[in-house]
Amino acid sequence: MVARDEKMIDRVVSSLSTILYGGDYNPEQWPEEVWQEDMKLMKEAHINEVTLNVFSWSLLQPSESEYDFHLLDRIVDICKASGLRIVMATGTGALPAWMCLRHPDVNRIGYNGEIYRHNGRENFCASSPTFRKYAGLLAAKMAQHYVERGDAGASDSPIVAWHLSNEYSGFCWCDRCAQAFREWLKAKYHNNIDEVNDAWNAHMWSHTYHSFDEIFPPNTRGDGMEGSAYWAGHAVLGGYSLDYRHFYNDQVRSCIKLERDAVRTYDTYAPITTNMMGTFNDYDYYKQGELLDVISWDSYPGLGEDAAAIDMRHDLMRGVAHGEPWMLMEQAPSNQNWMPYCYVKRPGQLAELSWQAVAHGANTVQYFQIRQARSGCEKFHSGIISADGTNKTRRFREAAQLGKQLEQLSAQILATKPRHGQVALIFDWNAWWDIQFSVGPTQALDYVAECQRWYRELHRRNIAVDVVSPLENLQDYQAVLTPCLQSVDKAVVENLRNYVSHGGRLLMTTMTAVADEHDSLYQGEQPVPLRDLAGIWVEETDSLAPSTPVGLAFTGEEAQAPQASPSTSKESASAAGKATYGKATDGKVAGGKATGIKVAGGEQPYGTMLFDILHTDSDTEVLATYTDQFYAGTPALTFHALEQGGKLENGAAGVIYCATMPNEPAIARIVDRLLAGLAVEQMVTLPMCEKCQSCGTPCSPDCQKATSAIEITRRVARADKPGARDLVFVMNTAEPPVSFTAPVSGKDLLTGKLVKQGDTLTMAGFETLILQQ
Ligand code: GAL
Repeated sequence: MVARDEKMIDRVVSSLSTILYGGDYNPEQWPEEVWQEDMKLMKEAHINEVTLNVFSWSLLQPSESEYDFHLLDRIVDICKASGLRIVMATGTGALPAWMCLRHPDVNRIGYNGEIYRHNGRENFCASSPTFRKYAGLLAAKMAQHYVERGDAGASDSPIVAWHLSNEYSGFCWCDRCAQAFREWLKAKYHNNIDEVNDAWNAHMWSHTYHSFDEIFPPNTRGDGMEGSAYWAGHAVLGGYSLDYRHFYNDQVRSCIKLERDAVRTYDTYAPITTNMMGTFNDYDYYKQGELLDVISWDSYPGLGEDAAAIDMRHDLMRGVAHGEPWMLMEQAPSNQNWMPYCYVKRPGQLAELSWQAVAHGANTVQYFQIRQARSGCEKFHSGIISADGTNKTRRFREAAQLGKQLEQLSAQILATKPRHGQVALIFDWNAWWDIQFSVGPTQALDYVAECQRWYRELHRRNIAVDVVSPLENLQDYQAVLTPCLQSVDKAVVENLRNYVSHGGRLLMTTMTAVADEHDSLYQGEQPVPLRDLAGIWVEETDSLAPSTPVGLAFTGEEAQAPQASPSTSKESASAAGKATYGKATDGKVAGGKATGIKVAGGEQPYGTMLFDILHTDSDTEVLATYTDQFYAGTPALTFHALEQGGKLENGAAGVIYCATMPNEPAIARIVDRLLAGLAVEQMVTLPMCEKCQSCGTPCSPDCQKATSAIEITRRVARADKPGARDLVFVMNTAEPPVSFTAPVSGKDLLTGKLVKQGDTLTMAGFETLILQQ
């Protein structure tokens, strides 16, 4: 892990007297008379930052030998005169057309062999020498020019950060990449083709290679698969496709590095970033993040996405930042234009989503974009200033109100930082790609969705979760989850084993630790490298259509008739303000004790999709069994204590193994068991859906989402900020108003209202309270 320079992060995200509030501004798309109007409107909206030059390469370098900064200089001057800070992009996110024509090596070749010429943006081949030469030159010239002009390079410069390219994405499959891939393989496999054959298990389907020259990029002209849904996009040799992913990631990383180093040569002060995209499949952001001074990302929630889905991405980005604050580089002021259905943000939702980001670690709030485009493919995307060009729109008023609040609360917020989670959920790109390239055992397995399902249940309980790399230091977590962590290399195995053997509690699911980093199945009793700790052997795995559930019977529940008013941990939480698992009196533990878990009204617990058929060791406790199919009565959920006789309710370390994809009522029960006996704080009473007011667990995905609506997240006082106080963000992340019992006391910084623990709080749709402790 690379230790980031904290002072560097502070420069942009913590030490400024005010939170950066602004975003992408593209005045080059407008006549100059509009700019002055924009400046007035920005002032009115309390905007203090603009992100400039994101896609201006063609304007800055109209030909091979010519650079022209005049237009950008004029824009910079106007912004400076208005007191705006600037996040300056290097402008290399889209190629100039002349370059694509004159130097075809810059163009990408697609997965199906398509030859691109110019084509949109993020259109460069990362192996192209011409691209590298000119991208590096432009970044250097930009930094040199603005340092020499006095606009960058010092603590009081208007340019407060550099933004490399824009949302790096995609792949190239050209001959130059093929050659670079061969060199990369030679370096990785000691110039020994047998090592490659061995890593990829290449002797199948006559794929044995006798020389590196026989290897091509694994697209559909090479080893990538086409055809029916069962095959398309998968790989003949998973290790081969995984290596190409890692190779191309390295190519992109070297492009990032060359721009970063070019900027750093001239501006030795400002932090350098590039904007990421959350759970974005193409690149391993943990590795990309190591190159950056500060992590920034673009959050674009889709229609119907709940707070948990959004927050898991925030928490992943915080994981990439090793827990440090990050920049919300883009969000839409209202609707996006690139989704199937481009909903406008509901009244209050813009502010609530922004506070949600701040609560999870954002120290800036930025948009795409400040003025709505007048034409082109982004003309239907919202801007703070819409086509009417006034301050009269709802989105402008809401953005202005938020800007004012951020301005007023900046000092208090920046004196805090994101909290360390008590529970970690492991998210890994190699495991994700491995699932993607595998053919079988089910086409329904969606890695991100599986991670989200577990995250959602923890989020519903307002438990502080960190989403982290499998190589992160896990020792401070009370519990760790590895949903479908299909591939694990030696270092990951070591880290997980170390965590459990030092007293950790690990929840593994089906499809965890199945393969090594090259996609080769571990040989032995699955899950081989964790077999002894898990105390189970997966003999075989049944796969059924997702619409065919298999019931789950939880130990200790059978005798329980549905009851009207259960004592749940949530209600215990309500009474106490906060609850500590295992110390609650509801006795929700496995192992034959009374569970108190009710199945009123809602769905029964069941599993779907995959069903491991298990053997258990003699000291492995069975927490649930299947109720259907030929494996009815066999274990579906187990606990293997690290120490003989260790009990969950006593906080025992060990491994819980979940052999299927549980539905929401089952996930809730499993998480009860995961947290039993641990001192994990849960901050709020959750409102139940109407259908199951009396039910202790969410009865359906909808109910689980509804009960996630209230979110409570703490930012903790920084030790180096005298007088800093913790802030607890209480947010109604959905439209319906909600009443619940206040879990903490504090003064709401937004209204001045005092909230007392135990008060009944009624929150309007999308309302936020920021309680100072
Ligand atoms: C982002 C991109 C912006 C803009 C925005 C629209 O992904 O970085 O340039 O296109 O989407 O939502």
